[in-house]
Amino acid sequence: MSEDRKRMRFLVTAGPTREPIDPVRFLSNRSSGKMGYALALAALNRGHEVVLISGPVALKSPAVAESISVETALEMFAAVESRIQSADAAIFCAAVADYRPVSVAEEKIKKTADHMQLELTRNPDILGSAREQFGFRGILVGFAAETNDLESHARGKLRRKGCDLLVANDVSRSDIGFGSEKNEVTLFFSDGDRLHLACASKQEIAEEVIREIEKLIEDRKGASEKASSIELNQAE
Ligand code: CTP
Repeated sequence: MSEDRKRMRFLVTAGPTREPIDPVRFLSNRSSGKMGYALALAALNRGHEVVLISGPVALKSPAVAESISVETALEMFAAVESRIQSADAAIFCAAVADYRPVSVAEEKIKKTADHMQLELTRNPDILGSAREQFGFRGILVGFAAETNDLESHARGKLRRKGCDLLVANDVSRSDIGFGSEKNEVTLFFSDGDRLHLACASKQEIAEEVIREIEKLIEDRKGASEKASSIELNQAE
């Protein structure tokens, strides 16, 4: 790591969550976890401390400071809540299931009728809880998977969830995104800026994203140092 680059603390969520229906079945999604793991590795390679909180994936965790495996959205919520305060930046790359079954059958559900209904309830929005519920003041980064109106959906999410940066990708394309080795994303910043990252490997995209987050952390630190030196000057 170069002398002038500071060691920063990153929290990364990755992969899908699994929401159990009974002892042998669950609801989940197609997230491979590759983008989140690429981000964790990129931050690690740039000399940062990384806490990786991951749903079930078929990937080997990079040698991060702490790697936490969870299954459900509620478990991911608790893991994030207990660790987010010490992070300079929190990156929410996990594809968290929006709903979970209201109740989990203790025994395997047997087939009886021709139709069955599963009642679902909303999972908490982990990223959306970062600011008010967890009181997180660091750099907050969300992901959005969109099939249409990418910019307006992404900007809406950025604002609603209190993010500094939202990384949006177009999941209507089959050559990038879910399961693929490649990705192409647009970064939307809370100051209105945007940056398109052309199609590249998820590792290359991750490195670019980590560099952008480093700049946001540095800018935030610079601004707060400036504010406290003004306060000090006024007190003198
Ligand atoms: N997220 C989360 N907890 C949830 C749901 C989502 O932390 N329960 C995070 C994801 O990790 C991601 C962002 O929120 O960073 C995605 O926001 P979301 O509103 O779920 O967007 P989509 O998945 O694109 O779904 P939708 O468009 O249906 O809102």
